[in-house]
Amino acid sequence: MPLENMNVMLGKAKDAGYAVGAFNILDYNSTKAVILAAEEANAPVIIQTSAKTVIFWGTTAIITWVKQLADSSSVPIALHLDHCKDLDLIEECIDSGWTSVMIDASSKPFEENLSLSRQVVKMARPKNITVEAELGAIVGVEDDIHVKHQDAHLADSEQAIEFCEKVEPDCFAPAIGTAHGVYKGEPKIAYDLLEQIAAEVAPPIALHGGTGLADDVFKKCISLGCAKVNISTQLKYAFIDGFVNYHNANNTEYNPLKVLDAQFDALKTGIVENINLFGSAGKA
Ligand code: 13P
Repeated sequence: MPLENMNVMLGKAKDAGYAVGAFNILDYNSTKAVILAAEEANAPVIIQTSAKTVIFWGTTAIITWVKQLADSSSVPIALHLDHCKDLDLIEECIDSGWTSVMIDASSKPFEENLSLSRQVVKMARPKNITVEAELGAIVGVEDDIHVKHQDAHLADSEQAIEFCEKVEPDCFAPAIGTAHGVYKGEPKIAYDLLEQIAAEVAPPIALHGGTGLADDVFKKCISLGCAKVNISTQLKYAFIDGFVNYHNANNTEYNPLKVLDAQFDALKTGIVENINLFGSAGKA
């Protein structure tokens, strides 16, 4: 199927109380793992690219392999640019065929975040590209965005309402206590805040920092209104561990395609588990 934006898939997820998984890919093998996992589960899926990954490969290579895999797939697939502060890169992705983008101006003062996020909506909406925007500061490292514990802060509910009314994002990412990267200790999720924001803003909510959350945390966040769940670090671990573990167990073999197969299997297994947990299996 041709790539689509996030509107229909997130709208259905929000209405029915499940979430669509958004997985940060790293290369062709990981993209294939995400798409074949979604097919196996018959689920809609979001292929996410971190800005650094886009810069590493270039937009032409990524759009070529994503379109080729999506065209021969039977499930709805969106291609989304994750956390991006650079308006030029956002524009390049829009022009190259991404169907969705995230503007992350959350480190800026509220008015500036609002204005930059509006600017991206103006750029994207006429081209039928969906926009995710963030409010508050999500702790941890995602791409080249580093938020220290002392700088992290939750989204303010009043500001969240104003932000969504003025920006009209297609998907909203408020900081609610989750973190990018590996959790050190138990995350303190502000469920009340999530519930309040989800009830009062129009767009579906994105849950960031998915790697390492317990099953019941995912389920609760989804039941409170998260319709998109972001998973990145898990794929980085499966990508490297899948490769290294195979080689360590077969260290005289030197057959790169077998190593890539093992990497693919490690990635796909985890993604299928996520999709089942998020409730989007069978919803393609
Ligand atoms: P994790 O790296 O914790 O899975 O977070 C992913 C994310 O939120 C990407 O935006």
